[in-house]
Amino acid sequence: MIIAKNIHKYYDSLHVLKGVDLHIQQGEIVSIVGASGAGKTTLLQILGTLDNPAKSNDTSLHINSENILTMKDKALSKFRNTHLGFIFQFHQLLPEFTALENVCIPAYIAGKEKKETEVEAKRLLEYLGLSERINHKPNELSGGEQQRVAVARALINKPAVIFADEPSEI
Ligand SMILES: Nc1ncnc2c1ncn2[C@@H]1O[C@H](COP(=O)(O)OP(=O)(O)OP(=O)(O)O)[C@@H](O)[C@H]1O
Ligand SMILES: [Mg+2]
Repeated sequence: MIIAKNIHKYYDSLHVLKGVDLHIQQGEIVSIVGASGAGKTTLLQILGTLDNPAKSNDTSLHINSENILTMKDKALSKFRNTHLGFIFQFHQLLPEFTALENVCIPAYIAGKEKKETEVEAKRLLEYLGLSERINHKPNELSGGEQQRVAVARALINKPAVIFADEPSEI
């Protein structure tokens, strides 16, 4: 369901990704291991459609049979919102919003109804041991609690793929 071919990435003269090929099937759990600075986050950002690989004729990326590299911005944003979930290396919660609101936002963007979204968000937060913390803002949460909120946020739209960049303190 994720098929990447010949992915390259350069940051100026730094050649970070040198022709990555990857084939991940539905239901597979895959870990990418490498030294700090090896390019793990860079690769996840590209597979997650948040960044582009270097342009080349034989480079391609398909997720659930969608040809990602030819999609227009708007279609790609919608695809990302409904099919992909992200847990970033630095949690990237929105500071102005509570834990519950942070979890609900991707569902609101997808046009889901408020009441049913809140029920599902509370269920996820409870499952992750945060039922006492749902009305706290990110700066009132510990690092591990923030990570768990980010996990709930990644799950709220029941995505086909979850990209998790070192969510390891959980
Ligand atoms: N925006 C950028 N501009 C220039 N260089 C970058 C940029 N982002 C990352 N790099 C460099 O690219 C290389 C790969 O970075 P990346 O963040 O993918 O590593 P990583 O494997 O995720 O490391 P870590 O385990 O420390 O998170 C590093 O040498 C980094 O300094
Ligand atoms: Mg990283």
